[in-house]
Amino acid sequence: MAVLITGGAGYIGSHTCVELLNAGEEIVVLDNFCNASPVCCERVRALAGADFPVERCDIRDEKGLERVFSSYSIGSVIHFAGLKAVGESVRKPLEYYDNNIGGTVTLLRVMRKYGVKTIVFSSSATVYGSENEAPFREDMPTGSTTNPYGTTKAFIEQILKDLSVAEPDWHISLLRYFNPIGAHESGAIGEAPNGIPNNLMPYVAQVAVGKREKLKVFGNDYDTPDGTGVRDYIHVVDLAKGHLAALSRAEKTEGCEIFNLGTGRGVSVLELVRAFEAASGVKIPYEIAPRRAGDIAVCYADVEKARRVLGWTAQKDVTDACRDTWRWQKNNPNGFEP
Ligand code: NAD
Ligand code: UFG
Repeated sequence: MAVLITGGAGYIGSHTCVELLNAGEEIVVLDNFCNASPVCCERVRALAGADFPVERCDIRDEKGLERVFSSYSIGSVIHFAGLKAVGESVRKPLEYYDNNIGGTVTLLRVMRKYGVKTIVFSSSATVYGSENEAPFREDMPTGSTTNPYGTTKAFIEQILKDLSVAEPDWHISLLRYFNPIGAHESGAIGEAPNGIPNNLMPYVAQVAVGKREKLKVFGNDYDTPDGTGVRDYIHVVDLAKGHLAALSRAEKTEGCEIFNLGTGRGVSVLELVRAFEAASGVKIPYEIAPRRAGDIAVCYADVEKARRVLGWTAQKDVTDACRDTWRWQKNNPNGFEP
């Protein structure tokens, strides 16, 4: 039985494909390539030394999904496909609700039709909103989101919880990612954002390679040790491995379970900049800019549940992630483009 990977050509999906293939799993990648390149799938094949089908399909296309489910023997789904730019979601809420929520509902309907009832879903620490205090625990109240992107994650979590109440034979795992960074240590795959990066690590990497002049540090007056925002940066390969643990748990467990995937450690913007400078040997010019709307001061995970139930903990640190990001960025200054 194959694992269907929606959004498998994207940043986190592609790293998860490598780990699944290395573990001997059979996979089928489904992606509409709205934020990805087919070259990435080629690189995954080469890295893992294994072949797999890639289906160009949109998760909102019910007929297309049915064709994929009837062509392969699919046993479970890891569902990464979605739009993820916070600022864009404020400008285009309908596109985000349609793509992320509409797409997920369509996917779930087709899964049910084909008797596939195991799903691992990419949620986000953003569902904890601004009303909780770090470390964030899975049983804290959620939903006080500050943008449509975050709201799509909170809604989809609710849809999946409701589904597991109504139909208890589903096996559902909601994974709340903290801040994924880094790249495969080969330097062959990594994060390739379109246009100006929204997130800290890809922005720093583009400054290092000379594509951007300097970093803007959004606020140095937070209530944190150095005044800059604190996040839980998790290496994407650790995150990918967390999916294997979550899938194996979901296969054995009916109902809906929630897990944080983070390191449990908070790192400030300036600490990350210094770690990148040390790993790359390149100075990162920066200036202090006003706070970014919607940002919170401190966000990091309580990782106890993932350790206890999944037997998974992050193994890598920000130094590893900076070194791997730099290798990827240096070798591929234009991402997957030539
Ligand atoms: P990504 O954009 O690299 O990957 C998402 C993939 O989904 C892309 O390949 C894109 O082409 C595809 N896709 C989007 N809409 C689709 C549709 N309608 N049909 C088919 N394919 C579609 O993003 P990523 O960083 O790898 O994130 C993967 C998932 O994890 C997303 O759901 C994202 O919201 C979630 N997440 C990411 C982060 C992060 O910081 N990267 C944090 C928390 C949660
Ligand atoms: N930051 C800067 N300058 C930049 C970019 C970011 O100073 O150019 C700062 C931010 O203010 C924040 C930190 O770096 O303090 C991290 O910002 P990111 O944009 O990299 O990450 P966020 O924590 O804001 O958001 C990320 C994902 C969301 C996800 C969330 C979950 O982008 O999709 O993590 O916690 F929901």
